[in-house]
Amino acid sequence: MATKPDTQGNRRRFLLAAGSLAAAPLVGHTQEKAPPKAGASSSPASANLTGRRKLGALEVSSVGLGVQNMSRTYQTTVPSRPEMLNIIRTAYDRGVTFYDAAEAYGPHEVERILGEGVAPFRNKVVIATKFGWNIEQETGKRLPGLNSRPEHIKLVVEGMLKRLRTDRIDLLYQHRVDPQVPIEDVAGAVKDLMTQGKVLHWGLSEMGLNTLRRAHAALPVSAVQNEYSMLWRGPEKSVIPLCQELGIGFVPWSPLGVGFLTGAIDANTRFADGDIRKIESRFAPANLPNNLALVELLTTWAARKQATPAQTALAWLMAQKPWIVPIPGTTQMPHMIENIGAASVRFSAAELTELNRSVSAIQIRGARLPDAVQVFSDVEAPPKS
Ligand SMILES: NC(=O)c1ccc[n+]([C@@H]2O[C@H](COP(=O)([O-])OP(=O)(O)OC[C@H]3O[C@@H](n4cnc5c(N)ncnc54)[C@H](OP(=O)(O)O)[C@@H]3O)[C@@H](O)[C@H]2O)c1
Repeated sequence: MATKPDTQGNRRRFLLAAGSLAAAPLVGHTQEKAPPKAGASSSPASANLTGRRKLGALEVSSVGLGVQNMSRTYQTTVPSRPEMLNIIRTAYDRGVTFYDAAEAYGPHEVERILGEGVAPFRNKVVIATKFGWNIEQETGKRLPGLNSRPEHIKLVVEGMLKRLRTDRIDLLYQHRVDPQVPIEDVAGAVKDLMTQGKVLHWGLSEMGLNTLRRAHAALPVSAVQNEYSMLWRGPEKSVIPLCQELGIGFVPWSPLGVGFLTGAIDANTRFADGDIRKIESRFAPANLPNNLALVELLTTWAARKQATPAQTALAWLMAQKPWIVPIPGTTQMPHMIENIGAASVRFSAAELTELNRSVSAIQIRGARLPDAVQVFSDVEAPPKS
């Protein structure tokens, strides 16, 4: 049978490989096309994502896409909306079926961008989003603190469904534990939403360990989302073992160490006002030179694996457990394409032992979060009276 030498799809893939699609018009995106079949060839340099992983009973692509910064980057710039839609759709064309948003991103605006982005193939992808911050529903204004009161959760989900242009949320997380609301009451609200078909799975982010146990007992949890990367290995102590015990999937946020593990940050990097990294002491000028030992290690391993540092950092996460699914965040097409190439990077057991030992030998200086943000992590929900 004759083959067409240069279909629109082939041409798009060529442009993407050349990293030049940022300037190309938004044309020819797939409508409800199935993602590439498992077993198709791939390499870190020019990869389509073929692997699938399970978060509890929920199947997702082995690498997801974090869309948090699609309304405002860490550098505080506002990315081009058509280009963000282009990245979301090209990610799907390349096998990504797992998108991570939150009500708080924007607030609200990122869910709108994601809803528009996935609209042509919504039924083929998993949309994850999060409630829990105290956000005024009509205006999107941030109010102080948290709000996981059951009636508020239900109201928030109605808004999410509209913004995401969908009739159900595949994975709904509590973004932070509300110290005023028993987790059994939160689970009850989510259960009601599940009964109505508006939510399919649920999860928690940065919760206390006992709260996770209670939440799972009340309503089986599919995923925990905590910060985890070579730069921040806190979850290895207790959270990941508990996920293993309970059969819960794990989604690392900031899997690239908020960009640090890509090699994009050096000892001279200074962050803009409004970029959270400016107030994270691990990125303070006094600590960067010490902490860059990790990037040096990663760069050596990247050369060894014929991959980039970002791909190596993501592959290391995926190598820890088969139910870990990173959601690297990006607003740049070449970065998205590079990041999904991580799924093709594999470590032998001996390599992983060696790499883990080397990572453990590097003492990171400085805290991962400012105190005012850290205080919302590891919180236990009050008992149900
Ligand atoms: N549950 C929570 O509390 C929580 C907290 C934070 C984040 N999250 C979720 O996790 C997702 C990812 O986390 P994150 O965005 O904070 O951190 P990240 O994925 O570790 O890093 C993102 C940063 O790295 C840059 N980057 C990405 N790929 C790159 C590459 N290949 N080369 C060079 N630079 C690259 C991005 O800039 P460019 O845009 O320029 O590529 C961005 O500045 C978010 O989108 C969000 O969905 C959840």
